[in-house]
Order: sequence, then structure tokens, then C-alpha cells
Amino acid sequence: MPLPTRVKLVEVAPRDGLQNESQPVPAAVKIELVHRLQAAGLREIEVTSFVSPKWVPQMADNAEVMAGIDRMPGVRYSVLAPNLRGYEAAVAARPDEIVVFGAASEAFSQRNINCSIAESIERFRPVVAAARAAGIHVRGAISCSVGCPYEGEVAPERVELVARLMKEIGVQHLGVADTIGVGTPRRTQRALEAALRHYAVDDLSGHYHDTYGQALANTLAALQLGVRQFDAAVAGLGGCPYAKGATGNVATEDVVYLLHGMGIDTGVDLDALVDTGAWISAALGRGTQSRVARAVLNKRAG
Ligand code: HMG
Ligand code: MG
Repeated sequence: MPLPTRVKLVEVAPRDGLQNESQPVPAAVKIELVHRLQAAGLREIEVTSFVSPKWVPQMADNAEVMAGIDRMPGVRYSVLAPNLRGYEAAVAARPDEIVVFGAASEAFSQRNINCSIAESIERFRPVVAAARAAGIHVRGAISCSVGCPYEGEVAPERVELVARLMKEIGVQHLGVADTIGVGTPRRTQRALEAALRHYAVDDLSGHYHDTYGQALANTLAALQLGVRQFDAAVAGLGGCPYAKGATGNVATEDVVYLLHGMGIDTGVDLDALVDTGAWISAALGRGTQSRVARAVLNKRAG
């Protein structure tokens, strides 16, 4: 499979990157993060989630953040919605894309969204129908596609099942997520191959947390299967409150460096992205998790 010449990056730092922060992050900081990301060339931004504020307090300002963004033409703003209640709140904020999120592991489904996999599909069904009727694109995510913090290794057959169910209810694009970053390249490919039984490769993306430092290798493994869309978070921010021990997403800076180095276009200005990562890391009071950003900043310093 020849490598693609262009890859679409979905920047998930405002949502996945910040949802797990224990200190409240002001809405104004989240809004400025979105503005800086779009100025750096990101054209897909996952802004927030319309979930229960009791479960994820950090995303309680979802409507305020969406309302505060100066929308740039050509940028697609997505939000998570786990049920009809979330969808109705989300749609009032005019997202371009809705994301429903399920899991390949029963235990994670219960912990994360308080229902079984089968129940989650029934909750998503009216969300997907309503979004599609409104002309809003629908993406789905499958968490724990290679491993689960509660069940251990997850078989590709589990991914295949959830991919089939997502397809049946009309989910248009599927993100295959390694929530706890345990995957290695072959296992990552097997999870994608399972999803490929129901989705075209152009309708699949990878979402890799970097807990075990495998996310770039897994990105390359996915590219080799023809996957051309990836989620990433600037400065390597992120984590899921219901996946203990899991660290951040693969850093967008690192993915951009990898792709540009292989002659693959992303439309992203790496220097502007490094600045954005440095800015949000300072706002959160910590250093960046991006190796590329650290290298670029060190080089600039001297
Ligand atoms: P539940 O308790 O089963 O829902 O939660 P419920 O329908 O029984 O409602 C209970 C209460 O929540 C009620 O309020 C509802 O009104 C309220 P009360 O009467 O107690 O005051 N409620 C809501 N409020 C606001 N927005 C809503 C909503 N729905 C119900 N949408 C629910 C089910 C899904 C809501 C809950 O489990 C939840 O919010 N979970 C949070 C899940 C989450 O955000 N996880 C992190 C994102 S997923 C992720 O990070 C993985 C990903 O990155 C990929 C990867 O890495 O794997 C995508
Ligand atoms: Mg995630």
C-alpha cells in the first residue's frame, strides 16, 4: 500500500486533552487554544463534549466554549455527544460534526458511559439519526480497541462487532482508539483490519494514547494500511478519567514532524504548533509532553 500524500489531523486537545485536568481550565483559555490551533493550520478541531458535568466537570463549560469561538471558514468543529440529551445540548451550539463514543470492552463501556455496549448502541441510534437528518456529520469512536484497563487484551473480533453495530446505525466515520496506549504495530493493524470489514479505509482514523511510547509506531503501521486520518493532541495532552494509568494522546507536533519528514502534507505549520503547545503547557503549569516540541524549543534557545 503506497503511503498517502496528505493526512488529515483531528486536533483533540481542547476535548480529550483537557477533560482530565484536575484544576479548572477557564473557558477563555480553551477558546484561545482553539483559535491558536486553527491559526496553526488545523482544520479539524474536537472542541468539547456534551456529557454529564457530574461525570466530567472539566467539560461543563461546553456551550460557553462553543459560543466563544471565532469560527474560521474551512474548519470543522466537532463535539462528543453520548446520548440524546447531550445531542440536544450540542446541536444548539452548532457543531459541524457529532462524535458518539462506544467501546470494544464491556467493562470500559460500563465505567465510561454507564451502560453495556448493546445499550450504548441504542442510545447512539437516535443521536445518529437526528444528526444525519440535520446534515451534521457523524463520527464514532471505539475505545479500548486493543486493550482495556479492566479486561486486559481486547480481541479484534470485539472491534469488528462494534464497528458493524456503528455502521448499522449510520455512523459515517470510525475512529479506532487505543485508550490506554498499550498497542504495538501489529495489534494496531489487526484492530484496524477488523474495522475495515465494515468501513472503507477513507472512513477510518486512528486515535492513539502514548502511554507506552508506541503511538508513532502505531501511526506508521496505520499509514501502511492506508489510513489517512489521525487524532492527536498538542503538547501530548489528554487522558480519560475512566482509564486509570493512561497518559496523554500522541502529541500533534510529533505526528506532524513524522508526516512532514516522510513527505506527507498536513497543512499544519509546525513552528506555530510548537508555540501553541508551549503556550497551553505554560497555562497548565507544566512542561510539554511532545519530544519534537522540546527539541524545537531547545534548538531555538540556543
Ligand atoms: P447516566 O448516569 O447513565 O445517565 O450517565 P442518565 O441518563 O441516567 O442521567 C443521569 C444524570 O445525568 C441526570 O441528571 C441526567 O440529566 C444527566 P440528574 O437527574 O442526576 O441531575 N445527563 C446529562 N447531563 C448533561 N449532558 C448529558 C447528560 N446525560 C445525562 N449528555 C452519561 C450516562 C453518558 C451521561 C455519563 O456516563 C457520562 O457523562 N459519562 C462521561 C463519559 C466521558 O465523557 N468520558 C470521556 C470521553 S470518552 C474518551 O475520552 C475516549 C476517547 O478519547 C477515545 C479513546 O481514547 O478511547 C473518545
Ligand atoms: Mg482518547
